[in-house]
Amino acid sequence: MHSSFLEKYGPWAVITGASSGIGVEFAHQIAEKGLNVVLVARRKQLLESVATTIAAKYKVQTRIIESDLSKDGFHHDILDTIKDIDVGLLVNNAGMNCEGQFYRGSLERNVQMLQLNTRAPFILAYEFGKQFISKGKGGIIFTSSISAFSAHPYLSHYAATKAYILSLAESMNFEFKDKNVDVLALCPGMTKSEMTRGLKDGPMLMDAPPVVKAALDNIGKQAYVVPGFINKTQVFINTRILNRNGAKNLTGSMLKKMLPSANKKKKDSK
Ligand SMILES: NC(=O)c1ccc[n+]([C@@H]2O[C@H](COP(=O)([O-])OP(=O)(O)OC[C@H]3O[C@@H](n4cnc5c(N)ncnc54)[C@H](OP(=O)(O)O)[C@@H]3O)[C@@H](O)[C@H]2O)c1
Repeated sequence: MHSSFLEKYGPWAVITGASSGIGVEFAHQIAEKGLNVVLVARRKQLLESVATTIAAKYKVQTRIIESDLSKDGFHHDILDTIKDIDVGLLVNNAGMNCEGQFYRGSLERNVQMLQLNTRAPFILAYEFGKQFISKGKGGIIFTSSISAFSAHPYLSHYAATKAYILSLAESMNFEFKDKNVDVLALCPGMTKSEMTRGLKDGPMLMDAPPVVKAALDNIGKQAYVVPGFINKTQVFINTRILNRNGAKNLTGSMLKKMLPSANKKKKDSK
């Protein structure tokens, strides 16, 4: 299993958002399969520490790239740093969220999220996809979200960025299939990471390892994967039992109750 993964997607993988949460777990599980990893994020010290641990534990090579993916031209540094290595897997995982009432987050924060969650993964998929197609092999994983499957009042803009990613990944999956390039959207529900720090533990909050495993087990088999029974059930209700209007109303009422930021005043804005 490991050797076929390595043959198909190795020898190097590029993982964005690899300084914390789901991205660190991607780096571990991919390195465990024998691939060398390029770790991308803004916090250099964290990247260095992840790289050191991975190199010692799995005996693979590592590189780090300190990059703010929400900035114009970010990809030039990345493409420059990897031009002497053979990358076969791109994990477009970095992301941030803005939750709460529509005007609660500043315009700047919302635009930063739009650039990070949509523009950056598109640019990297465009650039790496071209290389993979010309080699006749490779894989691209996008981290989307279960919020991609229906409208999410109080997570409106975040969910819209994740819907963009899911749609892009599914279409690329179809177009790239006969070119031997696999594309997958990973659609997690609530997962332990910095993004969900402070949330109460419980059955709805998954650990990162099974979330990432679902992606690595399903690339090349499906266009998207929803990890976990509770998340699968939620997507089933929102897409197969309710219509779009019903899903929007149910989700909006639930999030209004669950999210303090759906009710607080603008002065709490971060
Ligand atoms: N946790 C959940 O419940 C959940 C559910 C569904 C989907 N997701 C998605 O999962 C992905 C990973 O998030 P996570 O849950 O693991 O959260 P996290 O622990 O906050 O990780 C986010 C990662 O993205 C990086 N990042 C943030 N802003 C960046 C920027 N401007 N440029 C470069 N890198 C940046 C962060 O690194 P630096 O700060 O060092 O740059 C970090 O490595 C995201 O796309 C998120 O939307 C998460």
